[in-house]
Amino acid sequence: MRIEVKDLRYSYGEAKVLSNIALDGVSLTVEEGDFFGIIGQTGSGKTTFVQHLNGLIKLGKDCGSIKVGGYDLGDKKCDFKALRASLGMVFQYPEYQLFAETVFDDVAFGVKNFMPEVSLEKTQEMVKEALTTVGLNYDKIKDKSPFDLSGGQKRRVAIAGVIVTKPEVLVLDEPVAGLDPVGKREFISLLHRLHGSFVKTIILVSHDMDLVAENCTKAAIFSHGKIYAVGSPKEIFSRYEELQNLGLDLPVTAYLTRALENNGVKINSDFTVDGFINAVRIKTNGKIDGGEL
Ligand SMILES: Nc1ncnc2c1ncn2[C@@H]1O[C@H](COP(=O)(O)OP(=O)(O)O)[C@@H](O)[C@H]1O
Ligand SMILES: [Mg+2]
Repeated sequence: MRIEVKDLRYSYGEAKVLSNIALDGVSLTVEEGDFFGIIGQTGSGKTTFVQHLNGLIKLGKDCGSIKVGGYDLGDKKCDFKALRASLGMVFQYPEYQLFAETVFDDVAFGVKNFMPEVSLEKTQEMVKEALTTVGLNYDKIKDKSPFDLSGGQKRRVAIAGVIVTKPEVLVLDEPVAGLDPVGKREFISLLHRLHGSFVKTIILVSHDMDLVAENCTKAAIFSHGKIYAVGSPKEIFSRYEELQNLGLDLPVTAYLTRALENNGVKINSDFTVDGFINAVRIKTNGKIDGGEL
């Protein structure tokens, strides 16, 4: 499913008060299959934007249009339950979304809520598949209380509860916030496992530029409720001077590219670590200061 948002506007309170405006005419298309990054400073409107995509924040009258596959969110007859089964949303600190007495009930909730026609037997199958996909042992964990799990396990259970309905699109708001480096790496490999198997499209909100540079096929930069730039990470991070002026952090590869450039060495990379090393290798014919690269 393709996501097409046009001229989306939203204010927390009266739009006349400038500081209430959270989204100020956002148009963005996310194609099926994208691993799409949404970046921008705190308060730039990222969360408000993604919360519109499953109707968690209702699209206001005359405030633009949102189409998610065949769902027109401006249409009064839009089936939001069906939409939420096919566009799953993982909030920041998803472990706080857990609520049921057992892991099974927590993960099964999405099926019961969004797909009430599904039988108990089929529900069990779906819960098992979701828990296995996020790397948990179904038989060992299903009867435990979610509150007795480790932080990393809780986060996985929360994600299982979102992917259990097999959404085509998975939206994650700051999913690696608060994870240590190992937890972060495992989490990213989980996202890649999900992308292209369980879900077709991933939308990742993050202020972690390395994460976006390394993993996303496309990204948009939000600034003051508007979109400042859209493109591949290569296109976006090539504008590193502008981004810094905007107050944004950069991927480490962009800092290195700039440091080299300040020393008269211009390289052309895609801002992934491997791409950067390759670009340096090409530039130096594989030799740096006598050594081999
Ligand atoms: N519940 C809310 N009530 C009032 N203002 C809010 C609320 N949530 C967000 N805002 C404001 O809306 C703007 C955009 O916020 P948000 O979408 O959370 O940005 P981001 O996710 O990029 O940090 C900010 O100015 C923020 O203060
Ligand atoms: Mg946010």
